[in-house]
Amino acid sequence: MNLVLMGLPGAGKGTQAEQIVEQYGIPHISTGDMFRAAMKEGTELGLEAKSFMDKGELVPDEVTIGIVRERLSKDDCKNGFLLDGFPRTVPQAEALENLLSDLDKKIDYVINISVDKSILMERLTGRRICKDCGSTYHLVFNPPAKEGNCDKCGGELYQRADDNAETVQNRLDVNIKQQEPLLTFYETKGYLRSIDGQQDIKKVFAVIKQLVGDLR
Ligand code: AP5
Ligand code: ZN
Repeated sequence: MNLVLMGLPGAGKGTQAEQIVEQYGIPHISTGDMFRAAMKEGTELGLEAKSFMDKGELVPDEVTIGIVRERLSKDDCKNGFLLDGFPRTVPQAEALENLLSDLDKKIDYVINISVDKSILMERLTGRRICKDCGSTYHLVFNPPAKEGNCDKCGGELYQRADDNAETVQNRLDVNIKQQEPLLTFYETKGYLRSIDGQQDIKKVFAVIKQLVGDLR
């Protein structure tokens, strides 16, 4: 299955992606995670991405498209993939169409996790992530059993550098602007499936399973 997860920052893309890849065994391709990994390694890509991410701006299309092209060409994407946070602009979506056509693949569904923007600030500023396994928590909505530690591996939880109120506000503004034309693009193609992301985490996943259950 070839899936794209769309949604504003904090809509729950990463949270649902963790469960989708576990259930269906497809690779999770998150451009945000790829940029953060490059930042940690201190590569040129990481340095460039950091200058945009720290402000909550989008990394330029040509850079982002380049890393996705390379990633989708790898062998483990032969039987499916889950794109998370890409595409985010119409030029990225057009580039993805061309790239997939070169690889003789097509998207099955673009799943848009729809959440009212008024609750996203609270979701993002309360998010905590495990530094060892990357699992995502929320101080209120999905707290770990032991404060400060991951339920799965015991790792320490941290807050993402771009999850402060000021940067979150800019991320929301920037992404809201891009969202409408992108939704129209995929609606026209017939790939778009919007789901209610304001239900609890398990319910959102149940809806996704129902939607993709007939694919393989
Ligand atoms: P990226 O890492 O993709 O961040 P984002 O899009 O801002 O999305 P998030 O990861 O913040 O949110 P999410 O939807 O995954 O929410 P989560 O599941 O964690 O991108 C970061 C930056 O990289 C961008 O700003 C940009 O600079 C750059 N970038 C990345 N891709 C790019 C691209 N294609 N083009 C250009 N630049 C790019 O959930 C959030 C919180 O809510 C968690 O605490 C979670 O526990 C909680 N939660 C989740 N679901 C629920 C629920 N149903 N109910 C209650 N709480 C919930
Ligand atoms: Zn962990």
